[in-house]
Amino acid sequence: MHSNYVRGLAAALAVPAVLLVGVSGGTRAGAAEQVLNLYTSRHYQTDEALYDGFTKATGIKINRIEGKEDALIERIKSEGANSPADVLITVDAGRLWRAEQAGLFRPVHSAVLEARIPASLRHPDGLWFGFSQRARLIFYDKARIKAGEIKTYEDLADPKWRGQICIRSSSNMYNLSLLGAMIASDGEAAAEVWAKGVVANFAHPPHGGDTDQIRAVAAGDCGIGVANSYYYARLLASDKDDERTAAQSLGVVFPNQDGRGTHINISGGGVLKAAPHPDAAVRFLEYLASDEAQRLFSDGNNEYPVVADVPANPILAGLGAFKADTLNVKHLGENQPLAQKIFDRVGWP
Ligand SMILES: [Fe+2]
Repeated sequence: MHSNYVRGLAAALAVPAVLLVGVSGGTRAGAAEQVLNLYTSRHYQTDEALYDGFTKATGIKINRIEGKEDALIERIKSEGANSPADVLITVDAGRLWRAEQAGLFRPVHSAVLEARIPASLRHPDGLWFGFSQRARLIFYDKARIKAGEIKTYEDLADPKWRGQICIRSSSNMYNLSLLGAMIASDGEAAAEVWAKGVVANFAHPPHGGDTDQIRAVAAGDCGIGVANSYYYARLLASDKDDERTAAQSLGVVFPNQDGRGTHINISGGGVLKAAPHPDAAVRFLEYLASDEAQRLFSDGNNEYPVVADVPANPILAGLGAFKADTLNVKHLGENQPLAQKIFDRVGWP
């Protein structure tokens, strides 16, 4: 599959430039020659609808390269000024920050993007934009823990949860970003004390992904787990009875509702410095912020829309409204090196 995308891209690049002359609006007969080269680390089948929707709306064909985020970043770096990539889409603000640090993005100024995407979910100079949100949630075993006993991320370090916490490894970006947010809100010293406290409360050494943490709580292996909202919503929407029942059995906490709000991360992207089709690239980003695309993010992958008046899908809506942390997600990346040091110091594997 991957090699098909590569071949598709190579074929598109072989289109003589002369064919593109005079094509700009996307509505003329020659519009089919317009292309956008997209590098993405999103690997959700349901994203096909996003790409089809864009092509339908603009006539611009998408050539897609999928890969692991760090590999894509390395690839764009090594392609340099000759990179065919127009847009990089990835998950986690920390990854966007890494790409930004590598100097890969160009600033985009779009009234559409600035009006539709909240300032906390995009780079202040338009280097990247968030298009969907994920909340980092706490799950608990209702047989062991009463509602209201755990309310904040800070509570995860309370010694009363000794031997009960399941959360994945520190090498995972989601936890680097969570700790990055805690550094921003509580300060470095408090964040380190917290991380140390969570390690002391581990039910077992971290293993598996977010879904595994949710399953482990449902199975009674741990009292408390931490995972992103879309993994939980996916289980709630599962066509397998046991997955649905397991998910329904858990207590769900949107942390820090009485304070700064629940930690939010994004999936997002930006236009690359060397983009050969910068106009198409901006149109693609604007499409991702459209009502249609925002609904697709939510319906297809259980992510929260970033555009305020686009409703989340019924499964997410069923979890209730919540207060989200409005810390600009750029801090998650900025604090990442320090977060990694803290994780190393406290022995969070
Ligand atoms: Fe994920």
